[in-house]
Amino acid sequence: MSHLLVTGGAGFIGANFVRFWRRHRPDDAITVLDALTYAGNRASLAGVDGVDFVHGDIRDTALVERLLHDGAIDTIVHFAAESHVDRSLHGPAEFIDTNVIGTLSLLTAARAVWLAGSGQPHRFHHVSTDEVYGSLGPGDPAFTETTPYAPNSPYSASKAASDHLVRAWHHSYGLQTTTSNCSNNYGPYQFPEKLIPLFLINALHGRPLPIYGDGQQVRDWLHVEDHCRGIAACLERGRVGETYNIGGGSELPNLAVIDTLCAAVDAAFATDADLARRFPDAPAAQGLPTASLKRFVADRPGHDRRYAIDETKARAELGYAPARGFAEGFAATLAWYLANEPWWRAVMDGSYRDWVEANYAARR
Ligand code: NAD
Ligand code: TYD
Repeated sequence: MSHLLVTGGAGFIGANFVRFWRRHRPDDAITVLDALTYAGNRASLAGVDGVDFVHGDIRDTALVERLLHDGAIDTIVHFAAESHVDRSLHGPAEFIDTNVIGTLSLLTAARAVWLAGSGQPHRFHHVSTDEVYGSLGPGDPAFTETTPYAPNSPYSASKAASDHLVRAWHHSYGLQTTTSNCSNNYGPYQFPEKLIPLFLINALHGRPLPIYGDGQQVRDWLHVEDHCRGIAACLERGRVGETYNIGGGSELPNLAVIDTLCAAVDAAFATDADLARRFPDAPAAQGLPTASLKRFVADRPGHDRRYAIDETKARAELGYAPARGFAEGFAATLAWYLANEPWWRAVMDGSYRDWVEANYAARR
């Protein structure tokens, strides 16, 4: 039996991981540490039993030390981060503070508690991104774990820095670490600022779908549940000190993703008459194609052209393989957003912040 500290467990991937781990290892204890920034949402953990939620900041080293010590925590799964490239272009300092200084704080606490005296069995798993490897040309081989780092955005630079810190804490101090670098996640509970949930919700409201540049940028799409399985494989079978690339095996240009999305929304409206009543402003409610909302807009500055993951190492060492292709994973994601309107409505109207307000108010 283990006790996990999941940082950023109220965010998109963290909340999916907590749900996954509850099913995967029901006897383990789970503590979530989350600062509930705009991206953190308590509702994403609703209905999950036996999770101890701590509203706090990973930069609070004393708090982390106390949690590790008092809870006899033996595993950290570190998701907490500022995660959106577009936001990093407008406010890079926040990304350095959270992603670099925050990771340093966790490593400092883990070292102080876990490596004191004779040390104890432990694991620090760091969740990172394929964006640290930079951008590929159309014919370039996919990223492997030995591809040189070449981050291009403030976000990816901050993640690259945090990866290097984790590596150094293993080599310098013997901290038992693993790192995973994954591709673009999608699935339930994703904040609607990322491509897929943003475009889905815009399509339902008849709002434009803003396509950056020519829409030919390529991403590898990883269903979040496959990502969670990949992290579990790292924790259970990963070699200490190693990094593993986790991909979805679904490399697609943005326009292909957007066309799949538009066609799936049209098909959903064609088969479920109630959708036209629920979303009267959607073009599909008037029998028009969702694709009529597509708009080409100015490109993102420094927009990386292509990411692609070579996951040979994870397959060979961890037995990892993605279970869902994009078509299947996307269909499940669309069904989830249609069935969970209250979750995303609360995000859109800001009422998901009420928990934070109520708790702060209670302490004033
Ligand atoms: P997210 O933005 O949805 O969630 C981040 C969570 O971290 C939020 O709950 C937020 O409240 C919390 N947080 C932020 N600052 C904090 C702090 N100082 N202390 C404690 N908690 C804090 O992000 P996500 O999409 O779930 O990504 C999780 C991790 O996976 C990140 O490290 C990200 O870099 C990495 N990643 C994400 C993707 C993707 O496609 N979403 C791809 C590759 C890697
Ligand atoms: P995003 O979901 O922000 O993830 P990332 O930047 O980490 O890859 O974007 C995915 C792709 O979609 C990326 O190439 C940028 C593009 N994109 C748009 O064309 N329009 C949008 O409104 C958004 C949010 C993204």
